[in-house]
Amino acid sequence: MKWPILLDEIETIDSYKRFGKVTRVIGLMIESKGPESSIGDVCYIHVGSGRKKQRIAAEVVGFREQHVLLMPFSTIQDISPGCIVEATGKPFEIKVGMNLIGKVLDSLGRPLDGSVLPKGLRSISIEREPPNPLLRPPIHEPVEVGIRLIDSLLTVGKGQRVGIFAGSGVGKSTLLGMIARNTNADLNVIALIGERGREVREFIERDLGPEGLARSIVVVATSDQPALMRIKGAYTATAIAEYFRDKGMNVMLMMDSVTRVAMAQREVGLAIGEPPTTKGYTPSVFAILPKLLERTGTNECGTITAFYTVLVDGDDMNEPIADTVRGILDGHFVLERSLANRGQYPAINVLKSISRVMNYIITPEHKTAAERFRHLLSVYINSEDLINIGGYKRGSSKEIDEAIRYYPKLLSFLKQDTHEKFTREESIDALLHLVHSG
Ligand SMILES: Nc1ncnc2c1ncn2[C@@H]1O[C@H](COP(=O)(O)OP(=O)(O)O)[C@@H](O)[C@H]1O
Ligand SMILES: [Mg+2]
Repeated sequence: MKWPILLDEIETIDSYKRFGKVTRVIGLMIESKGPESSIGDVCYIHVGSGRKKQRIAAEVVGFREQHVLLMPFSTIQDISPGCIVEATGKPFEIKVGMNLIGKVLDSLGRPLDGSVLPKGLRSISIEREPPNPLLRPPIHEPVEVGIRLIDSLLTVGKGQRVGIFAGSGVGKSTLLGMIARNTNADLNVIALIGERGREVREFIERDLGPEGLARSIVVVATSDQPALMRIKGAYTATAIAEYFRDKGMNVMLMMDSVTRVAMAQREVGLAIGEPPTTKGYTPSVFAILPKLLERTGTNECGTITAFYTVLVDGDDMNEPIADTVRGILDGHFVLERSLANRGQYPAINVLKSISRVMNYIITPEHKTAAERFRHLLSVYINSEDLINIGGYKRGSSKEIDEAIRYYPKLLSFLKQDTHEKFTREESIDALLHLVHSG
């Protein structure tokens, strides 16, 4: 570093260390007198004495009267009134770089297996503003996800953000794993938030597999982690994806599930005394969701295509989180248990799903074929009950006759085995061929 620069650094350096003291611990929340800090700053709480001395990282989540409200990143058993609180004056940072590819990390960006981080990484803050909407290039090019029905009937664009709405056990993890293995995106960043430990292992070993992991970075915050860590997991994954987007890459971000992030935020909100609104969700939940989901998409360097899973009980698509998320994103895919029960995997209900970008990025020929496919399928589905009870007489309607004739082909087009892979060209060719097959 040159001398004048060093002098500048010295001019602006903050040579004060700011300290405070713990006054109360209420449930998940620690209240302290001081230090001077702002929301989102990391503080260290010094606990124990002598050899057992350690510092616990915590985040400023609010203020009450003259007190600072802190939430720790780990469990809080050793914290007591009088413990010293040291301010760092900055939000949480993680280390990121190319060498993270293939790694499984915790919410704070540390390898989950306890190994040390590789060298050559850079520190970045996990909080960031979404790209300026006026500087965002429009989505103009499809991304290949390698799922036939998506690439042909629900084409996703590079930088598009899609919600995957589903109950449990209908094939979300399997689908995300398939996308991670099959896509032509440069890199996957996968956030597993609020899952049980067993599910995480299953996802990494079975759904993603070694070939998927080799082109992914996985961030894990299991359900037993403190609420704040589950929230951080979502931010950390998003920040990692942003880092690679700024390097000009086309990144695929998958977050399973955004509902669990919202639930964690609700826990924090209730603990700091926010009023509960719909379904107990606090106002901050509806404030952070758009901020988090708007960070992905395109910017002037690269793209982040994002899939956010949303848990829906039964078919309640109007549940507050589902409703909010659907409004923010540029498309939603609905996975249905009734399809899964019939063995129709991936269990995406094409007629209830939409990609809002599709028609801007595909050829007219492709568009016409996709519309015809949807039409044939909807004609069949609308008369399915009638057909099944034998109440439909062949010849009564040309349209229904045609749909019945096509249905077996439509159905086998929609199905895809876990280890089958199709390129975008193959999927579109198959679609064009199918709808003109008579
Ligand atoms: N494409 C598929 N082909 C065959 N079976 C599938 C497929 N997708 C999901 N399944 C079945 O559904 C089960 C549940 O899937 P999973 O992805 O774990 O659901 P979720 O993550 O929604 O709980 C799997 O164990 C598997 O048997
Ligand atoms: Mg799952």
